[in-house]
This record gives sequence, structure tokens and C-alpha cells, in this order.
Amino acid sequence: FVFNEINFDNHEQVVFASEAKSGLKAIIAIHNTKLGPAMGGCRMWNYATEAEALRDALRLSRGMTYKNAVAGLPIGGGKSVIIANPKTDKTPALFEALGEALERLSGRYITAEDVGTSPSDMAYVAGKTKYVAGLGDRGDPSPFTALGCFVGAQAAVKHHLKRDSMEGLVVALQGLGHVGYDYARQLHAAGAKLIVADIDQASLKRAQEELHAEVVGINEIYDVQADIYAPCALGATLNPDTLSRLKAKIVAGAANNQLATADMGEVCRQKGILYAPDFVINAGGIIKVCYEYMNTPEDGMDAHVRRIGETLAEVFARADSEGLPTSVVADRIAEARFKN
Ligand code: NAI
Repeated sequence: FVFNEINFDNHEQVVFASEAKSGLKAIIAIHNTKLGPAMGGCRMWNYATEAEALRDALRLSRGMTYKNAVAGLPIGGGKSVIIANPKTDKTPALFEALGEALERLSGRYITAEDVGTSPSDMAYVAGKTKYVAGLGDRGDPSPFTALGCFVGAQAAVKHHLKRDSMEGLVVALQGLGHVGYDYARQLHAAGAKLIVADIDQASLKRAQEELHAEVVGINEIYDVQADIYAPCALGATLNPDTLSRLKAKIVAGAANNQLATADMGEVCRQKGILYAPDFVINAGGIIKVCYEYMNTPEDGMDAHVRRIGETLAEVFARADSEGLPTSVVADRIAEARFKN
């Protein structure tokens, strides 16, 4: 690939790590460590080319810097990618080799599970280095992500609909997984009505029975009459097609990379849709993982996750007063913290 065509965006350090015996081919991207050691998950994916893997590592590590900075955590941003098929290529030796590569970085980057990897894979990494978080021994971060989404939705409702309660609001929720189901439960408990979509029939049935949710098809979720759209499954669901269909005036969900392209933030603003920036509202999980890794007393953790609501209120107010998309304001809040 052509080095000059890669957008490095001030990455501090990018390491290629390989080991023939285990077959490890990995890229570790450290974007920024001004606020602390870089933290971010390890993705395992069958990338078609090294350039594709590098681009993903650069993009994802940069995203972690912004997310961690806005969440008020004492960590920077990084990410690693293993170039291999997560279904067929996993071995203990592969993850041990990754652990050795992290050890050589002396703690400048701390990894965790991500798409394609699991806490049990990370246990092998932990055999070779202490620079690995979220081993799952103290619980799943998803409920904290869900809590952040719920308080974020409350902040959005207060700002945009001038309401203090969720009672009677309709939420179109996409994806009843680890985060989505817990978020749905909190919305239901607060009196919201749920319209849900998922590809998993068992989750849908459970939501119908337990949460009185109405089920629609995976392509219909963008068209339903709702107050809030809560994407909790896929990325890039805010695009020209969906934004021409959505009736909801608030987007508040856990999915990563919701904007198909950066300019969709401005499209939301022009349409009067209040978008809770994904990396702000979904930071509950990384807050939990960071507390756990740093052995921070967990009595302050719930309050820290709930501050996501206050941060979003600040983002929304600034976006109004400065006439900017919420996504741009959130970026600027992050940059003020990690840039000099
Ligand atoms: P998950 O894999 O447990 O849940 C995803 C759900 O979406 C599953 O129920 C799946 O069947 C459903 N789904 C898949 N394709 C769909 C489609 N086309 N339409 C509707 N539903 C579909 O994942 P999890 O952990 O709940 O995460 C959800 C999202 O939140 C992901 O985008 C993830 O990256 C993001 N996220 C998760 C965090 C966490 O703590 N788990 C932290 C930050 C972000």
C-alpha cells in the first residue's frame, strides 16, 4: 500500500507485530496518550489486505481517544487488530503472542475484548502481560453501557422535548442484545412504549412478553412513528436513506459509528433531529472496564456513568448556541481535553 494515502491523524505510534510460530499478524495503533495509557479493544477480523487492517486500526484508535476523553477517564486512545479469521484461526498461542507484543510496549497500550475476541481469548493475553482489561472476572460492561444510554435519552428528552419523564414516549429500538435489552427494560420501567426489531426471534418474543414491545421487521424500524430512535445493533444507520424516513426527533442508542459519513451530523441538525453522539452516550462500558483495570473504588462508578447525561446536556446546549451539529461539539469537547 501507499504510505502517503493513509490518514495517520497524529497517531503517536503504530506497531506491526508478527510471530511466525503462532501465525500472529497484528497492528497496534496508539493514537494519543496525553490523558493516560491508550486503552481500546482488540478486534480480530479477516481483513482482505494489510492496508484495510491498518485503516481500521487507525480509525478505531482515534475514536477511542475521543470517547475516553469525553468520558473523563484518565486514559488515552488505542486499538489493536489481529488479521485472521475469528471463526477458524484462534489458538492460545496467537493470543499469547499478542500478549508478548503488548508487554514490549511497556503499558503504553492496554487491550480488551472487541469484535471477534472474547474475555476467554483475553485470558491467554493476560498470561503474558498485565496490560489487558475487561477479562470478565468482575462482570459484563453492557449493563453500564445501557445505563449510559438511558440517562443520555433522558437528557435528550429534557432538552429537545422539554419533558422530565419518559412516560408515554415511543422508542423504536433496533437490536435487543446485551446492551439493547437492558436499555429496553429501563425504558419500559420508565413508562416508554417500545417498538423493536431484531434478527433473533427469541429476543423478540422475550421483549413482547416481558416488556409488551411491538415487533416490526428489521427494515421497518426506520419508518415507525416514534419519539426516539435507539440504534443498538449496527453502525452507519444514520444515512441519507434512513434520515429521510425516521419520524423520531431524537437518536439515542449504543451502536458504534452511527453516522454513515461525518456530514450526517449536520443533516440531523437541519432536520431537527437531536443526535446523541454515539461515543458520548455509549461510554458506560469503557468507564466500567477502566475502573476495573485501574482498581478504582467502584462506589463512584454509577455516578460516573450517570454523568454521561450531564455531558450530553452540555453538548446539546452548546450545539444550539453555536449552531453546530452535536457530533462536532462532542469532538471539540474531546479535543480540548487531549490536545495541548
Ligand atoms: P450484541 O451482539 O449483544 O447485540 C446486538 C443485537 O443486534 C443482537 O440481538 C442481534 O441479533 C441484533 N441484530 C443484528 N443485526 C440486526 C439487524 N439487522 N437489525 C436488528 N437487530 C440486529 O451487541 P451489544 O454488546 O449489545 O452491542 C450493541 C451495539 O453497541 C454494538 O454496535 C456495539 O458495538 C455497541 N457497543 C456495545 C458496548 C457494550 O458494552 N456491549 C459498548 C459500546 C458500544
